[in-house]
Amino acid sequence: MSALRIVRTLSELREITRAWKMAGEVIGVVPTMGALHDGHLSLVHRAKEECARIIVTIFVNPKQFNNPDDLKNYPRTEVEDAAKLAPLGVDVVYVPDGEQMYPNGFCTNISLSGLTDVLCGAHRAGHFDGVATVVTKLFTQTSADRAFFGEKDFQQLQIVTRLSLDLDLGVTVVGCPTIREEDGLAMSSRNLLLSDRTRVWAPRLIEEMEKLAATMRAGGDYEAAHAEALAALKTAGFTEVDYFEMRAVDDLSLVTDVKRPARLFAAAWLGGVRLIDNIAV
Ligand code: PAF
Repeated sequence: MSALRIVRTLSELREITRAWKMAGEVIGVVPTMGALHDGHLSLVHRAKEECARIIVTIFVNPKQFNNPDDLKNYPRTEVEDAAKLAPLGVDVVYVPDGEQMYPNGFCTNISLSGLTDVLCGAHRAGHFDGVATVVTKLFTQTSADRAFFGEKDFQQLQIVTRLSLDLDLGVTVVGCPTIREEDGLAMSSRNLLLSDRTRVWAPRLIEEMEKLAATMRAGGDYEAAHAEALAALKTAGFTEVDYFEMRAVDDLSLVTDVKRPARLFAAAWLGGVRLIDNIAV
């Protein structure tokens, strides 16, 4: 197993990946914003199965935050992150700073239409432009052949898959299942921001989603079950629900029955923390 190497500059990264490419090695990238949890580590394990070389990127991307406080409060745990990656056979942890990623004068923006207009795109202005821009750069900077993303951010997964195809980036995007805590809460770096009290309430989100999905599978009425779920979330302490919707998997259009493959998508606020989740119906 090669030693974990922390790389902070693009020039050093290029030197390393050039040698790997010359040797014909497949490069896998796991893009992250750090505060790594078992969900991220599962992406690394999957990447190890498919690639000779693994790069994990850690960059808290300012362009995808629409709220300055959210950016300021986003957990940053680089030392702990490196310790978690060291035993996994990761070759490089790429940790660029803002100047590496967006040097003075940077003025390019990657923007997709359609897929980005709904769900988180409708509630977080500019978020997916920020994601698309940084992911394009991370794909080209790392010279990756394959990239691994969690289904927890299903809309993001759809968007980066499309992006790689549309721009001929040559990166195969691999979606990996959401990893959950024992009580069902989807693992997320943002869970670190929950208080002890709100952490106990947080699994109500997935519970209400599972209930609605079960109703749909049993041929029940969407509108009634949906209204019940929203009321239950309010009672459970969620202050605001950005969305709680069933959408078609292929184009993310709204649906109220399961004639096409569909997923339930939710984003809701609990104690000032925005939680998101999605499940197959
Ligand atoms: O999912 C994330 O952590 C981020 O959106 C990503 C893909 C690393 C881009 O900054």
